[in-house]
Amino acid sequence: MVSRVIPVDPFDLVLFGATGDLARRKILPSLFHRFQIAQFCPKSRIIGSSRSKLDRAGFQDLVAQAIRDYGQDGETGEDDIKAFVELLDYVPVDAKGDMGWQELKSHLRPDVVRAFYLSVGPSLFPDIASRLSSCGVATPDSRIVLEKPFGHDLASAQALNAALRDHFAESQIYRIDHYLGKETVQNLMALRFANSLFEPLWNSTHIDHVQITVAESIGVAGRGEYYDRSGAMRDMVQNHLMQLLCLTAMEPPSRFTPNAVRDEKVKVIEALEPVTQDNIARGQYRGKSGNSYLDHAGNPASATESFIAMKVEVANWRWAGTPFYLRTGKCLRARESEIAVYFRDPPHNIFEGAAGVHGNILVIRLQPDEGITLRTTIKDPGPGGMRLTGANLDMTFADSLPESGRAQDAYERLIMDVIRGNQTLFMRGDEVEAAWAWADPIIAGWTQIGAPAPQPYDQGSSGPDDSLLLMHRDNRRWRGIGT
Ligand code: BG6
Repeated sequence: MVSRVIPVDPFDLVLFGATGDLARRKILPSLFHRFQIAQFCPKSRIIGSSRSKLDRAGFQDLVAQAIRDYGQDGETGEDDIKAFVELLDYVPVDAKGDMGWQELKSHLRPDVVRAFYLSVGPSLFPDIASRLSSCGVATPDSRIVLEKPFGHDLASAQALNAALRDHFAESQIYRIDHYLGKETVQNLMALRFANSLFEPLWNSTHIDHVQITVAESIGVAGRGEYYDRSGAMRDMVQNHLMQLLCLTAMEPPSRFTPNAVRDEKVKVIEALEPVTQDNIARGQYRGKSGNSYLDHAGNPASATESFIAMKVEVANWRWAGTPFYLRTGKCLRARESEIAVYFRDPPHNIFEGAAGVHGNILVIRLQPDEGITLRTTIKDPGPGGMRLTGANLDMTFADSLPESGRAQDAYERLIMDVIRGNQTLFMRGDEVEAAWAWADPIIAGWTQIGAPAPQPYDQGSSGPDDSLLLMHRDNRRWRGIGT
């Protein structure tokens, strides 16, 4: 395992929002795990920054505790934690005022990679970008990393892009969509573009439809205020599901370089047909008293969706006639994410009288149990004539590739790519804007007066009935969640 690690150059990483939830749960433990496998050397430094008046020792304690709380089991040795916190420093900075900027500048070294990670609310992005530039903290080679949400609609995303581009070139900007850091999502590209088996079949002649599901079992308690302003469409579809759709539908790029890959993704988004409201099902979970979406959102009159399903058409030669059905929601029966590619049935069944052919389905499982399954039809073994049955060719990565070790968190890969200067797995500005340009009219459709409210669904179910109807209408069925 360790021998496969490609070390990155030494860096100074400034983490804004260093005491926040995302930093403690994801970013700092991810850095720790990559330090443990010696992907970066002790010459690198992580400088925490926020408005909190902590000193270095206080920040070191906070990070050590975050690793114990959120690091991966069995991987958090105290000696390693002790070595890791030696890399840390802390500078209190006021994003909107003068405090701290000159001190921050004096902490940074000229001869190492410089990256600024903004793990803060998007309203602070323009202020921080502008101070980094006006105080001379950023250099022309520095990288700036931004967390979602990247805009609330097209206009706000455009304004954000413009504010960033006043100070940074596009080649310096890393917009994170953590789904792109997931192993199986990258595997989708390997599956499609490193195998010759699938590409000839990867089109509407052979594929009947595609189902993309990101089901979550948790609700929105604890972040209801943010979520209620977003809903499933803004929180998940415009970004994560859109990325999954793009990687499934895109043309093979000429090479695996950042702009070649992102050019192809933008073409997919631009080819999406507008989605009409009758091709959408929205839902809101309900639970026992005090435990429904409306309680968690803190807004008894909320019309925000915690579930959405939709039928999406990609209007190009490859996909015309093959719908993509997207579905995501909170408080569903299980946490399960997958892309299921349904191939068309054989044109003629020679097994007259035999039980039906079980259509081929290629399932790319993102979580849990990352892996790939291909459903096939085989002869039911034993006596009884030529009977057919369905059987799976199944590959779970953990079983097939045990030497690959513990599951990596998506952030590990993405942060190392920032240091390497590789933007392939980050969203380009035009890509984000294209996704909003597609999403905005859809959202406008249900924010009009008189538009139907989201349909209630029970916690632990597969979503509202309208979602099932969306499929039944087309003589299709969703794959089960948690079955
Ligand atoms: C985030 C959303 O971007 O992704 C959350 O804001 C969601 O609402 C999360 O729960 C899902 O990520 P994952 O990696 O757990 O599938």
